Amino acid sequence: MKRTLTFLAVLAALSTACSLPAYGADAAIAARVQALVQQMTLEEKVGQLNQVVASGLTGPESAESKNVDKRAAIKAGQVGSVLTVKSVRETRELQQLAMQSRLKIPLLFALDVIHGFKNVFPVPLGEAASWDMQAIEHSARIAATEAAASGVHWTFAPMVDIARDPRWGRVMEGAGEDAFLGSAIARARVKGFQGKGLGQLDSVMATAKHFAGYGAALAGRDYQAVDMSLQQLHEVYLPPFKAAVEAGVASFMNSFNTLNGIPATGNAMLQKDILRQQWGFDGIIISDWQSVAEMVRHGFAADLGDAAARAINAGNNIDMEGYAYSGNLARLVREGKVSQGTLDAAVGYVLTKKFELGLFDDPYRYSDAAREQAVLNDPSHRAATRDVARKSMVLLKNDNDALPLTKQVRSIALIGPLADARRDLEGAWTVYSDPEHVVSLADGLRGHVAKGSRVTVTQGCDIACTDTRGFAAAVKAVRAADVVVLALGEGFDYTGEARSYTSIDLPGRQAQLFEQVRAAAHAAGKPVVLVMLAGRPLIFADAAAKADAVLYAWLPGTEGGNAMADVLFGDYNPSGKLPITIPRSLGQVPIFYSYLNTGRPVPEVEALYGSAYRDSPNTPLYAFGHGLSYTSFKYDNLQLSSTRLSGNDKLTVSFDLHNSGKRAGEEVVQLYLRDPVASIARPVKELKGFRKLSLEPGRSERVSFEIDRDLLSFHHADLKWGAEAGRFELMIGSASDDIRLEANFELAD
Ligand code: BGC
Repeated sequence: MKRTLTFLAVLAALSTACSLPAYGADAAIAARVQALVQQMTLEEKVGQLNQVVASGLTGPESAESKNVDKRAAIKAGQVGSVLTVKSVRETRELQQLAMQSRLKIPLLFALDVIHGFKNVFPVPLGEAASWDMQAIEHSARIAATEAAASGVHWTFAPMVDIARDPRWGRVMEGAGEDAFLGSAIARARVKGFQGKGLGQLDSVMATAKHFAGYGAALAGRDYQAVDMSLQQLHEVYLPPFKAAVEAGVASFMNSFNTLNGIPATGNAMLQKDILRQQWGFDGIIISDWQSVAEMVRHGFAADLGDAAARAINAGNNIDMEGYAYSGNLARLVREGKVSQGTLDAAVGYVLTKKFELGLFDDPYRYSDAAREQAVLNDPSHRAATRDVARKSMVLLKNDNDALPLTKQVRSIALIGPLADARRDLEGAWTVYSDPEHVVSLADGLRGHVAKGSRVTVTQGCDIACTDTRGFAAAVKAVRAADVVVLALGEGFDYTGEARSYTSIDLPGRQAQLFEQVRAAAHAAGKPVVLVMLAGRPLIFADAAAKADAVLYAWLPGTEGGNAMADVLFGDYNPSGKLPITIPRSLGQVPIFYSYLNTGRPVPEVEALYGSAYRDSPNTPLYAFGHGLSYTSFKYDNLQLSSTRLSGNDKLTVSFDLHNSGKRAGEEVVQLYLRDPVASIARPVKELKGFRKLSLEPGRSERVSFEIDRDLLSFHHADLKWGAEAGRFELMIGSASDDIRLEANFELAD
């Protein structure tokens, strides 16, 4: 309610051009913002919307950036925020410059704190595989605590882009392919970063990015155009952003891509109609790195000035490292191409956050060296990275109980380019990469085996694996071992921004290394455990078929080696589930579980004229939601409180989950729904609920989900939101392709 009122107040003010809008939810802050805006010159206002980089580029460096004396600009009040600053020393120094400006408006310090700060958690896609919202929130909480202690006010995370194309390197930064899971994770991350609220010394402003559609880049090539129906945009790509707004996210970042021809940065439908008006968002909207200026290359703006006008008029507030606003906005306002009201509203959003963070009361309150030392060296943070990492790992296959390994094993041959990797386990977007700090898989295994057991390490090749001269030594290492563990996959810099690939097979000749080692091991009757390390789903169908066990460990962070060893030896019973489909081949991409049925589905329609590949099954290698445990679970006794749902009623579906194996374990139970007849075709199944439960062996728990009208609603062809009466199919299972219980119910008119 408060939000709506504030928004209306802004709107009302904008329409009366010369009066000032009200900002934020807090009346006292709104008054202080108004008073300050009144004192500001046009140039000072533009300064608040200008964000510059301190050092460490995360995008191309522009000529303007090279020529600007940033320190002088800060002193002159021409800069409102600085990105890529990460220490008390640096933030204090820059803030001192801002305190020399006429109005002493403090700077905001922003940084990409994506999956940890000093202590590195698994890459976000890995964390998503935990399906554990508490763990994900806790990870963001610790990252925020550390970042805030180092003077950072603002993180450019979470990335909530849905991504269904593993060629796109940024698939690593998100929560995978699904809108429902992605929304839950967006909420958890925002809550984690922002903690008890802005202004607390252990909280940072979160940013929902990249708004919108960025994950659907054509052919998986970063920054490419995005063309999709508005229905798909609303159903699949927008829900995690909306969830972030509902969780109180402080800022939004728009994106590099065009969406149906209009750059997201200059897109009024996205930023004004949907984000501000429909969702009532009252935080900051920032561009991506030079994305205002890039609208010229998109063919949407004539020059930098035109780009600036189009961006701010479409709702973009801050220009990140683009120099489109700093060089043009004052003139544009004087010429009447941008209204005073639009400018003031944008400035107001920025100042409001500065007040909320308490920076006007003490601009140095986040820059305390003693606190920084204490927080960054808190041992509980490191322990948390191990906990989240082991929860994120997905056991894809475990034939003949090849895992867990016994600690009394005489000898393990650990083979592969990632066997002793440290830096690679951290993944991209690390702030304090300190490989010395990281536990490798070799360290982890050695730390777990009994005294007298041996772990030999043979790389075979490096990650690019173009040179096969080390293969012979790898094959030889098999001889002396009881079990072979192969650590294959990608390095830290294979995923992340601008890391798109046309081949996502195991790099170079890694598959050949696998095959030689496997053949030798199997000839000698020794099991082969494949540990996959990567920030994306890789194509490895052949190796997966031939390995006895496969553990997908993602890029697991600082304590990665210990976490992998915990799982491999059974100190932790794996509980991760895939948040994204693993295809059999690249030719299947894009592949995801919630597809629309065709008119000729196989096997219902004979294969000759069915919707099928001639050279491959349609099914993926491993489906969304898949993940094994060292124990087993039975699903039984499904009950619906009613088979008819009407009005605002709720229907309760319940069932028994039973741990039928011999170990304690966790299971992620998944609820899927289908609307089989609707005014617009609906997916064959959609995740609509999940719970992660922990059960001792032999124990059962009754699990229930509530279903209401909202859960059955969708965007119709005219984009109106609502449910349609009729029969619904309900499926409960352990994976999207492992449905254990099914029922139907009716939604009344
Ligand atoms: C990325 C953003 C990031 C920004 C600042 C851009 O290139 O797309 O995700 O937040 O740089 O580092």
